[in-house]
Amino acid sequence: MDKIPQPNTTAPRKQDVSRKRRLLVRVLLALGLATVLGFQFNNVHRLSRLQTVPLHADKILDKCRQLNAPAGPPSNFHERTVSDRFESGTPPTLIKNATIWTGRVSGYEVVKGDILLDKGIILAIGDIEQAYLNNFSELNTVDAGGAWVTPGIVDIHSHIGVGSAPDLKGADDTNSLKGLALPWLRSLDGLNTHDDSYQLSISGGLTTANILPGSADAIGGQAFTIKLRSTSERSTSAMLLEPPYTINASYVDPSLPPRWRQMKHACGENPSRVYSGTRMDTIWAFRQAYDTARKIKEEQDTYCEKASAGKWDNLGPFPEDLQWEALVDVLRGRVKVHNHCYEAVDLDGMVRITNEFKFSIAAFHHAHETYLVPDLLKKAYGHPPGVALFATNARYKREAYRGSEFAPRILADSGLQVVMKSDHYVLNSRHLINEAQQAHYYGLASNLALASVTSTPAAIMGLDHRIGLVKTGYDADLVIWDSHPLALGAAPQQVFIDGIAQLETPHVTPKNVQAQKAPKTPNFDKEAQLAVEYDGLPPLTPQPEQAASILFTNVSRVHTRGPKCGISQVYSMSEAGELGAVFVNKGKIICVGLPSICGKQARTFKGDIKVIDLQGGSIAPALTSFGSPLGLEDIQGESSTKDGKVIDPLKSDVPSILGGDGSVIRAVDGLQFSSRDALIAYHAGVTAGISSPISSGFLSGLGTAFTTGAFHKLSKGAVLQDETALHITIGAFTTPSVSTQISLLRRLLNSGGEGDLGEAFKKIIKGEIPIVVAVDSADIMATLITLKREVESETKTPLQVTFIGAAEAHLLAKEIGEAGIGVVLRPVRPFPATWKSRRILPGPPLTAENAASTLIRHNVTVGIGIEESWSARNIRFDAGWVGLEAGEDSISYEQALALASTNLEKLLGLKKGNSDLVAIAHGDFLSFEGKPTAIISEGRNTVDLL
Ligand SMILES: *[C@@H]1O[C@H](CO)[C@@H](O)[C@H](O)[C@H]1NC(C)=O
Ligand SMILES: *[C@@H]1O[C@H](CO)[C@@H](O)[C@H](O)[C@H]1NC(C)=O
Ligand SMILES: *[C@@H]1O[C@H](CO)[C@@H](O)[C@H](O)[C@H]1NC(C)=O
Ligand SMILES: *[C@@H]1O[C@H](CO)[C@@H](O)[C@H](O)[C@H]1NC(C)=O
Ligand SMILES: *[C@@H]1O[C@H](CO)[C@@H](O)[C@H](O)[C@H]1NC(C)=O
Repeated sequence: MDKIPQPNTTAPRKQDVSRKRRLLVRVLLALGLATVLGFQFNNVHRLSRLQTVPLHADKILDKCRQLNAPAGPPSNFHERTVSDRFESGTPPTLIKNATIWTGRVSGYEVVKGDILLDKGIILAIGDIEQAYLNNFSELNTVDAGGAWVTPGIVDIHSHIGVGSAPDLKGADDTNSLKGLALPWLRSLDGLNTHDDSYQLSISGGLTTANILPGSADAIGGQAFTIKLRSTSERSTSAMLLEPPYTINASYVDPSLPPRWRQMKHACGENPSRVYSGTRMDTIWAFRQAYDTARKIKEEQDTYCEKASAGKWDNLGPFPEDLQWEALVDVLRGRVKVHNHCYEAVDLDGMVRITNEFKFSIAAFHHAHETYLVPDLLKKAYGHPPGVALFATNARYKREAYRGSEFAPRILADSGLQVVMKSDHYVLNSRHLINEAQQAHYYGLASNLALASVTSTPAAIMGLDHRIGLVKTGYDADLVIWDSHPLALGAAPQQVFIDGIAQLETPHVTPKNVQAQKAPKTPNFDKEAQLAVEYDGLPPLTPQPEQAASILFTNVSRVHTRGPKCGISQVYSMSEAGELGAVFVNKGKIICVGLPSICGKQARTFKGDIKVIDLQGGSIAPALTSFGSPLGLEDIQGESSTKDGKVIDPLKSDVPSILGGDGSVIRAVDGLQFSSRDALIAYHAGVTAGISSPISSGFLSGLGTAFTTGAFHKLSKGAVLQDETALHITIGAFTTPSVSTQISLLRRLLNSGGEGDLGEAFKKIIKGEIPIVVAVDSADIMATLITLKREVESETKTPLQVTFIGAAEAHLLAKEIGEAGIGVVLRPVRPFPATWKSRRILPGPPLTAENAASTLIRHNVTVGIGIEESWSARNIRFDAGWVGLEAGEDSISYEQALALASTNLEKLLGLKKGNSDLVAIAHGDFLSFEGKPTAIISEGRNTVDLL
């Protein structure tokens, strides 16, 4: 603290004199007030006090006044005519003839009309008078042709830019490991402007993201909200949306309220595990940190009380600490706390802490058990936290084991705010709208589902005065969709951020009329109720129908597996003129056709006939899952629940007792049944799985095929084929080198090698079983194509080769087609996660074709795979989506089904395919309208009711 200079040491400058005078007046005013309040003063004493009033007392008093100013926009915010994010030169834009979901009126308002954007702001919506439009000279007009328009998508939980894509060692700035409570760290300081994800996520409609530090720490640091577009300044700071003034201390306008700040907290497994501590240690870290912040806050409050009363004597400097100021701000209610927290035990711990220290949590994130404890959330200090969820990503660790797809609707029914989030790039935020679509499919009302990725996250982040709604005065962030945003495969035709069109030449695949409406989703009330009743673990064991004869009625179409790996339509209501029937006896289809015909045939069989009304639904071949360790693990993050990893001959010595380098492991020996992921997949019509031994090296081993709904390995039809193909990986690691890995493969393909591995290679060389190679880089694929040619020129026998992963396969589509190599795209919607997989073909709206349609056009047999076991259930939607994206002309419904069934099975060496069929109520298998209700299994002679 500066003392007022002694009068006669140096002559004060004029400015100083006037400042001193102002200060004197202020102090006298304060003293005057004190007199009114009844204090007694001694004049002499008063003068000596004046000597100790700090030089910057006015600033300190300003600071004191600001301490408890509530966060938010200035009261005149909506009088703005130019956005602070406006890029000069952006022309005004008129979007004509839009169907606008505004997000207003609790998400029920839909306006048909136009939208005028100027200076980064939405100026007008609806019927806009021509006279008004005449004001704008260079109006850029976009005809939406009646298409749906929504606010830009908002992601409340992202690590875009801090854990960048492609993932390179030099750009991973998500977590600090320097302590458990680090409220002084800022995601802003690690935000890379060159993440490949920005453009990709924008192409999915994402306009705003909240960039959180990771969850390795109890308090990981401050989060910052950004808009995803590139800026003319090309800097990190220019991406920020309403940054708090603290990032630019040269610009604190004390007359304005502070802006909302954001902060990451995490409880449970992650922080406890990272520091080899326990939950008790983590909670103590929180309490200790909050205790530190509380002390500072109390000192500040006491200090300011005295300072405002003019009692400057011995007051010392204003108590503050740069490391703790953000946490003090949490206690002042000016920070939105985003709390990664899963389980009841941890949610309870956090709720207790909020009440102990008196602060609010904006949202619990991940929060897989919140739907089981809604009343606990309502006990949190201040207000109940919102809940930010994944739709179906669960069970990947113990904390997520009770996660439910019904959580969004259950929480909404309990009156809590529901947000869908990406945790990019845990999920690719390009497809955040798909999380809302799934939540809607499993029962979240459409108004809330759309709000869950627009207005609700905006409100929770304290930004709902400018984003999350289509409303005059709001930021000009909009998405024009190619179909209803809750329809499967909905993709933007154009995305505006701050009024700037983000897609240069958008490619739009025409969608049918039906896709322009929100899907009529099935009823899951009973399932949702059971999820709660069973504490998150409802029974999933399939129930075989006792009656041998079943008549499915009201069937709109039927597809079955035809000869030669094809899938064909064998009944269609539109062709037959009426809804059909399917008669099944002991799991075998006896009749497909008009109800009169199949009904008659059914009556020729003895015994009871069970009638199942499919209500306009369909019957289709069941699907097969491949690409994750499904069938070899229960919980990804818990090694004791898994088969475990094989020993890799390129990375370590394989014990000689095992056969040394000549050993090969069979996945069938590690199969485990009845995992929740497998049973949930079965309920979703994914009745078979193909898995290869879990490996992080070159050699995985022999794959196996199994039934996802089987109780144990010895139950009928549990194992479909013991050994399918040999699986290896090339290029996933570089020690030893990729060229070493190729060299090993060449040696094995030339000489066969020793032992069991040698036997497997002999079959490969003879073309009897496929060799399945996980590979992403086009350069490595090119080398493999050459190697295949080399080997075949010696043996004169075609090798069966399948590439999986294959992110860059589209670059070699012609060559892969000519080489007769098959491709399993994994993941089906590509993401440039690594350097070797960065040259993806993103698909519409960025490119006209997607990888699947490009490969199919070059005569490549294509299958689709998954990365993690939880997602096996979603293959039906993955297949439908890839078809919708490519367009009916490129990938028909039958071809889409084949991607996840017959093609996949052929490519992976399953000789006699999965012969199950799925009966789907209400709609089609690959849509958000159908609900799988029965599995018809000729192989097991059963019909399981789901
Ligand atoms: C634009 O036109 C309208 C007439 O509809 C007029 O009232 C308004 O003042 C004009 N100017 C601006 C800047 O809006
Ligand atoms: C809006 O677009 C729809 C669909 O293309 C069209 O039928 C309708 O006539 C258009 N309305 C106007 C006002 O242009
Ligand atoms: C800090 O704020 C001032 C006042 O608005 C502005 O001129 C300056 O550019 C800002 N500095 C940075 C680095 O943003
Ligand atoms: C077919 O559906 C209609 C309408 O839902 C229903 O009334 C009828 O009972 C169903 N018919 C059969 C045979 O299940
Ligand atoms: C694909 O196969 C068909 C039939 O075998 C052939 O006519 C066509 O030329 C092939 N296309 C390409 C791109 O190889």
